[in-house]
Amino acid sequence: MKILAIESSCDETAAAIIEDGRKICSNIIDSQVETHALYGGVVPEIASRGHMEAVVRVTEQALREADVRKEELDAVAATCAPGLIGAVLVGANFGKSLAFALGKPFVPVHHIRGHIAAAYLAYPDLKPPFLTLVASGGHSMIVLVRDYTDFEILGGTRDDAAGEAFDKVARVLGAGYPGGPKIDKMAQGGDPHGYKLPVSHVKDAPMDFSFSGLKTAVINLAHNAEQKGETLREADLAASFCQAVVDTLVPRLAHAIEQTGVREVVCAGGVAANSWLRRALTEMAEQKKAALYLPPLSLCGDNAAMIGAQAYYEYQAGHLGTTAQNAFATAEISEDVCAKIR
Ligand code: KG4
Ligand code: ZN
Repeated sequence: MKILAIESSCDETAAAIIEDGRKICSNIIDSQVETHALYGGVVPEIASRGHMEAVVRVTEQALREADVRKEELDAVAATCAPGLIGAVLVGANFGKSLAFALGKPFVPVHHIRGHIAAAYLAYPDLKPPFLTLVASGGHSMIVLVRDYTDFEILGGTRDDAAGEAFDKVARVLGAGYPGGPKIDKMAQGGDPHGYKLPVSHVKDAPMDFSFSGLKTAVINLAHNAEQKGETLREADLAASFCQAVVDTLVPRLAHAIEQTGVREVVCAGGVAANSWLRRALTEMAEQKKAALYLPPLSLCGDNAAMIGAQAYYEYQAGHLGTTAQNAFATAEISEDVCAKIR
């Protein structure tokens, strides 16, 4: 079964053709990152307009590279939640309209379910149940994937998402946007214990965490140094920040392994590209005798291939959109996006 998938929830306009949820026939990503970098972050209206301009082009390219004609598609899928609403609406409406015009089913997909499904593309034998650490720009949580469309949130952030913390810290350090890859690079060769930074603990919630204290600590360090005319050891600070994020996330995931007894572990989302996190997860998985599934860097950030992978399983579960399907800025991963009304 061939699905054309569209992704437009943030600043990437993407289209992909995926076969049976596992094989990438084409995967096109048109990034607006250079435009938004001028403003130090994503400007929602510019993102929406960028998607309007790019969505037909990337779709045509995805069809061409896969050597598939529109009429040969079995379904069209699109991210319908969560994300910047103006941005999500563009891809969702385009996907729904294309499905309608072709007389094919439309499959609405939850963006974070898509991030998790990136692992199916990289690991053809991976099947639920498994645990996932989701770490993206807007979401950070530990999820038990009971089945392809059955998710239980075991814990998560009480404030900022991991990627958001990376982006804010990068801005304070003048590293630019998007912050995650810049901080990762800045941290190479740095001493992860060069600065003492706080790691959160949420009382009576061992799988919950918080990044606001860590973010504030870095902001205060930067401001104090500026006031005193001192120069920060940037590599050490970036490394200490990466280490603090790792020390926040990885023990929670280890706890989830202990609690559930599930020893198959996936990491998903943009922050899954972080080299410190990947190393620490690999060590932890070895210690816990767990199998770790880390998608390649190319599938960690936003892409449509992951949406096409999840769409296959949503289709199998009968989760099809009607012509009245809407898009949503927020939606729990456990929610059925098709059944959501507002
Ligand atoms: O999953 P994603 O592409 O978009 C959302 O769904 O939010 O995640 C984007 C986030 C950004 O905050 C970006 O700074 C972060 O992922 N990121 C990283 C790295 N690459 C991307 N964070 C840390 N280290 C990286 N190497
Ligand atoms: Zn994403």
